[in-house]
Amino acid sequence: MKVLVTGHRGILGRALTVELPRRGVDVVGVDVAEMDVTDAGRVRAVLGRERPDVVINCAAFTDVDGCESNRDLCFDVNVRGAGNVAREAAAIGALIVHMSSDYVFDGDAKVPYGEGAQPRPLSVYGESKFEGEKHVVATVAEYIIVRTAWLFGVGGVNFVSKVLARAKSGEALEVVDDERGSPTYAGHLVTALAKLVGLEFRGIVHVAGGGVASWYDVAAEVLRLTGLQVPLKTAYAADLDLPARRPRYSALETSLYTALTGEGMPPWQEGLAAYLREIKEVGPGAG
Ligand SMILES: NC(=O)c1ccc[n+]([C@@H]2O[C@H](COP(=O)([O-])OP(=O)(O)OC[C@H]3O[C@@H](n4cnc5c(N)ncnc54)[C@H](OP(=O)(O)O)[C@@H]3O)[C@@H](O)[C@H]2O)c1
Repeated sequence: MKVLVTGHRGILGRALTVELPRRGVDVVGVDVAEMDVTDAGRVRAVLGRERPDVVINCAAFTDVDGCESNRDLCFDVNVRGAGNVAREAAAIGALIVHMSSDYVFDGDAKVPYGEGAQPRPLSVYGESKFEGEKHVVATVAEYIIVRTAWLFGVGGVNFVSKVLARAKSGEALEVVDDERGSPTYAGHLVTALAKLVGLEFRGIVHVAGGGVASWYDVAAEVLRLTGLQVPLKTAYAADLDLPARRPRYSALETSLYTALTGEGMPPWQEGLAAYLREIKEVGPGAG
C-alpha cells in the first residue's frame, strides 16, 4: 500500500511519515513547499505523479488564535485546500482520509461528543474545520473523516513540550483547569489510522486518547512523570483573554472506533508516558 501524507512536517504528518514505513507501508510526505493544498493544479500534478492508494490530509492552518485575524487564509487551507486534496485523490481512485478537530464543537456538552453530535464551532478555526468536513463530504463519494483532539508528538511545539520547557527552566506553571478534552499522542493516532485505512468503513469517526483531562491535569502528569518540581497553579481560560474562544469541554467519544477495530484507544496518560519516553524525558515518577 502506498500512502501520501500532506502537511508531513507537522505533528501528525511527521509521526505518520516516520512510523508507517516501519510497518511496511510505502509513504510519501509532502508539505507546503512540495504541494500547497490551495493550489489545485499542483495537487493534481503531485497526486498524478505519485498515484498513492490512500491520501491522509494533515495539511492545515492550525494556529487557532491566528485564524481569528487570518480568516481568508485559514479557509483557503482548511476548506478549499481540503476540497482540492479530496477531489484529486478521488480522481486517481485513492481513498481520502481527512483530519478534523474537536474544535468543531461548542463545548456545552457534559459527556464526550459522539460522531452524531451537532457541530457548533466557537472560533474561526473551528468553523473552517467544520466547513472543511462539509466540503470533503460534498466533493467525494467515499471518505474517512477523522476528528481528533489535543495532539502532542515529536517535532514542533505542542502543549506538552511547552510545559516541559518551562518546568525545566524552573519556571512556575499556571495552567487552565476549566477546559477539558481528550489529549492524544500522535503515535497512538498513527496506529489507529493504520487500522482504519484497512477497513471497509467510510464516514466520520472520532479517534482520540482515552479519558478526559484539563490542561492542568496534563501539566500535573508531565511533572509527575518527569519528576520535575516547579509550582503548578490553576488558571482560568477567561483570564488568558486569547483571541479565539475554545470549547470548555470537547472530549470525544471513541466507541465507534472501538467497535470498528475491536480495540480501544489507549488512555491519554499512556500516550503522555510514551511521548516522554520517545523524547527521553521520563523521570522518577514514571514507574
Ligand atoms: N494539533 C492539534 O491539537 C489538533 C487537534 C485536533 C485536530 N487537529 C488536526 O489534525 C491535523 C494535523 O494537525 P497537526 O497538529 O499535525 O498540524 P501542524 O503541526 O500545524 O501541521 C500542519 C502542516 O500543514 C502545513 N501546511 C499549512 N498550510 C499548508 C498548505 N497550504 N499546503 C500544504 N501544507 C500546509 C503546515 O506548514 P506550516 O507549519 O509551514 O504552516 C504544517 O507542516 C490538522 O487537520 C488539524 O486541524 C490537530
